[in-house]
Amino acid sequence: MSTTAFSAGAGAAGLAPRAADLPSGNDDAYWREVERLFMLDRDVLYMNLGTVGSPPREVVETVDRVHREVAIGAKSAYSDFADVRAVAAEGYGCDPDEMVISHNTSDGMSKILAGLNLRAGGEILTTNHEHPGGDVPMALARDRHGVVIKRVELPVGNDQRAEDYAVAFERAITNRTKVMLFSAPTYKTGTMLPIPLLAKVAQAHGVTTVVDGAHIPGMMAYRFRELGVDFLAGSAAKWQCGPGGTGVLYIRNKVLPQYNPNPLPEFWPVVSSSYPGEGGLPPRSSGPEESYDIAKYLQSVGNGSLAIMAGVRTACEVWDRIGRQRIEDHALELSARLKELIAERWGVPSLYSPKDDPRLASALTAFNPFRDPADVFDEAKSDQFVARMKDEYGIVIRNVDFPVVGSAKNPVPVRISTHLFHQHDDVERVVNAMWDLAGKMS
Ligand SMILES: Cc1ncc(COP(=O)(O)O)c(C=O)c1O
Repeated sequence: MSTTAFSAGAGAAGLAPRAADLPSGNDDAYWREVERLFMLDRDVLYMNLGTVGSPPREVVETVDRVHREVAIGAKSAYSDFADVRAVAAEGYGCDPDEMVISHNTSDGMSKILAGLNLRAGGEILTTNHEHPGGDVPMALARDRHGVVIKRVELPVGNDQRAEDYAVAFERAITNRTKVMLFSAPTYKTGTMLPIPLLAKVAQAHGVTTVVDGAHIPGMMAYRFRELGVDFLAGSAAKWQCGPGGTGVLYIRNKVLPQYNPNPLPEFWPVVSSSYPGEGGLPPRSSGPEESYDIAKYLQSVGNGSLAIMAGVRTACEVWDRIGRQRIEDHALELSARLKELIAERWGVPSLYSPKDDPRLASALTAFNPFRDPADVFDEAKSDQFVARMKDEYGIVIRNVDFPVVGSAKNPVPVRISTHLFHQHDDVERVVNAMWDLAGKMS
């Protein structure tokens, strides 16, 4: 994050750049202009998108403006927000009837698990690296319905290939498995579980797929329908940089055999104020056209927020204008460079994120920064490392802890996010700072 780039835009509101004014190109100069769309504190290098993003100025202005209009006009928002869902659906590669703007990933995951027809003895096959956003609704399903939760133990580090995940899930499926639920990428190691491969495994066994895709919207340019999954819940406030308290929920609502030939699972829109009072819903579609708009039922819940929904729309429009693929390529290129620099200085074994199989890559990088590798098990030292990176180097990162097969203790490595407002020199800066600090702490 260059001070000069920020200085050029700061303080001169009239000159504040907009996505519509971006020059053409894809070089460093272009990404410096992109950086100027954001309001981030220029004294800090913010590299924790995995926790929360920062809305571009245009999003903040939209939310402000609409909040004022709502206050002045006392406007209500009993709406299915079809216009916002249409813009979002276009960007995420699905139809509006498959797209809900939720409150966040956790909200989406809860609505999915509460809406599925889960029965005692049925199994959910998941992983040992899930977030509470998925773990908690699974635990509720276990305690409420008697569902059994089984976990695949995920490998960590560079020595793995996408096919390993397909094999691990395939081996763990039984004839009682009803749902496969996994994060892609995991928030622990940033490993992008290979969604289309895993969707194929699930399809072959007639199993419903639920993806905790908290980090997908805004980071990856996935066309959701083409992934072949049944459900995907993500955040709109992390990598998508929408207003706080927003998320993206994809629900497969028609049968397109080229992506997923299986019948749609039974699913109830459990939080809704527009579900019919009498007569219920028609049967779910078995063909390429929806039989009803499932997203509308989940979107219509009492009085909503016109301002926040307008902000989500603007965030999607900014991303679509820059180009979702271009953003993914940039974030992943910086992440690949970061992993290479880490491998050069600390060695490949320090990486908990895979580096060499591009199908497993995300823009999250987790690694052990300590000179003495055993220090990664010292949680207090890891916390201190994160705090000193902020205090002494002005760089915000975080740490994560997780089980590793064969290790008695959980490591607590650091995790770094690279995104569209970062530059190559930011990656070098964070690497130099971490190397320097690791030296001081050894
Ligand atoms: C994998 C994963 N799932 C769910 C969540 C929860 O996200 P949200 O705050 O959008 O509910 C997170 C948050 O970091 C996450 O990393």
